[in-house]
Amino acid sequence: MATAAQPLAPSAPRDDYERLERALAGVEAPFALLDLDAIWWNADDMLRRAAGKPIRVASKSVRCRPLLRQILARDLGFRGLLTYTLPETLWLAGHGFDDLVVAYPTADRTAVAELARLTAERPTSAPVLMVDSAAQLDLIEAAVGDVPAPIRVAIELDVGYWTAGGRLKIGPKRSPIRTPEQAVALAREIERRRAVRLVGLMAYEGHIAGVGDRPPGKRLQARVIARLQRRSAAEIRERRAAVVAAVAAVAPLEFVNGGGTGSLHTTATEPAVTEVAAGSGFYAPTLFDAYSAFRLRPAAMFALPVVRKPAPSIATALGGGYLASGAGDAARLPAPHLPPGLRLDRFEGAGEVQTPLLGEPARGLAVGDRVYFRHAKAGELCERFETLHLVSGDRVVDELPTYRGEGRTFL
Ligand SMILES: Cc1ncc(COP(=O)(O)O)c(C=O)c1O
Repeated sequence: MATAAQPLAPSAPRDDYERLERALAGVEAPFALLDLDAIWWNADDMLRRAAGKPIRVASKSVRCRPLLRQILARDLGFRGLLTYTLPETLWLAGHGFDDLVVAYPTADRTAVAELARLTAERPTSAPVLMVDSAAQLDLIEAAVGDVPAPIRVAIELDVGYWTAGGRLKIGPKRSPIRTPEQAVALAREIERRRAVRLVGLMAYEGHIAGVGDRPPGKRLQARVIARLQRRSAAEIRERRAAVVAAVAAVAPLEFVNGGGTGSLHTTATEPAVTEVAAGSGFYAPTLFDAYSAFRLRPAAMFALPVVRKPAPSIATALGGGYLASGAGDAARLPAPHLPPGLRLDRFEGAGEVQTPLLGEPARGLAVGDRVYFRHAKAGELCERFETLHLVSGDRVVDELPTYRGEGRTFL
């Protein structure tokens, strides 16, 4: 397991463009690629920040089955998957993946019934469902009927930061369970029912793990974010420990999961947390550039061909409007990456059929040249491409299907 401190990741050098162009000369754009050397550099950096706590790999941020396999085989520090839908999870289980935890509640009754059959075969190791209320337990119960083995479930705890006397709530709006008392009440409700069995706890601090404390060009905002995140992390540390102690008295817990790419180094230090989660850090999309505590190497990109020159100073690429999910701000746009120095047009952004590029290097780009972009988020890029070209150095070493390339679109 990698634990030694690593130097800061190098920024994209100019010759990266020539290197990728050499590697991918035979591939027609548009295409997506992964820089394998950067992926493994990022993987080692995440293992270092997790400081010995196993990392459950967030599959939504990878969305490539053979790559998930390679990541899990790479280091024992990567253990199990945090999946995003139950049909995806059952599909992965059918392909031999085990130790699966579905991170989000499901309302798919057909898939729950299928999970009941799998749980009958593997009562102690079948995939785990996430719950945060009796309503989800009702749905599971109704879907499975009289089960031979109870469905394994985990409780999600809300670890948002409440301030101004509870009037301002910072963090994703997910679970209603916040206090040890609420968690114990739900744990008892689970224990009372024959169809389910409590095996774990999860608490994801998205306002720390997914929000960088160094947003570009916003120094004041950066200071506010950093202060709120410090306070929130301290509050979570206490509360998570109290909830874990209280729930463990009701049912033995196999795991307590927390964190994400942006919080590995803080969440992993909590004694109550048995494992951390991360996925985006492998691809290192642009939203993860904005952290002061670590730097990752851009690993996932897509290439578009320049198809027209509306003026000598503008190069217009084909397509490119791959916006990331979330609050619809400019940070969700893809970013031109190579050659360095290009920028999007303020009025057109990244479009469905074309993306005009401005900046000095645009003058030198001709019809047929290619431009490399980075997505703002990780796995969503895979919904646009059927394959990922794996580059190492200046060679393409493999081409892997995305979920979409395998005919699977789960969300
Ligand atoms: C429950 C949960 N854990 C962890 C993560 C972190 O994933 P990533 O490292 O890809 O940001 C997420 C991302 O949304 C999540 O929903």
